[in-house]
Amino acid sequence: MAEDEAVVLPLCASAALEEGGAAHVWDVLEHGRPARAFALRFDGVVRAYMNRCLHVPVELDWQPGQFLDSDKRFIICSIHGATYEPEDGRCVGGPCGRGRLTPLAVKEQGGLVHWYPSADVRPAPPALAG
Ligand code: FES
Repeated sequence: MAEDEAVVLPLCASAALEEGGAAHVWDVLEHGRPARAFALRFDGVVRAYMNRCLHVPVELDWQPGQFLDSDKRFIICSIHGATYEPEDGRCVGGPCGRGRLTPLAVKEQGGLVHWYPSADVRPAPPALAG
């Protein structure tokens, strides 16, 4: 685990994540399987989650990188409208039950957004990244 904690990867420029704007989406390996994650800015803070609905394990965005509802208040699933609190990923409406999106550790520093991979969610090899 100590080796994982030492890995820090730049994701994108801080300026690329505008309040209420498009998210940065990237490829990861979750427990060794290809998956996608996203980072967006909400109330000035960058939050990142696995791009997977709790209702059915599909990606959430209704257009590439677009995760927020029309009021820019909640993360919304494009399939059946499950809504999630951007601050903590908690399900607040629709068919996502009492769960929450899987959070990923991110931090802004020096004008960049950095991701801290974990033992469960690791960087995808370049051949898998798209
Ligand atoms: S798949 Fe997301 S609400 Fe049904």
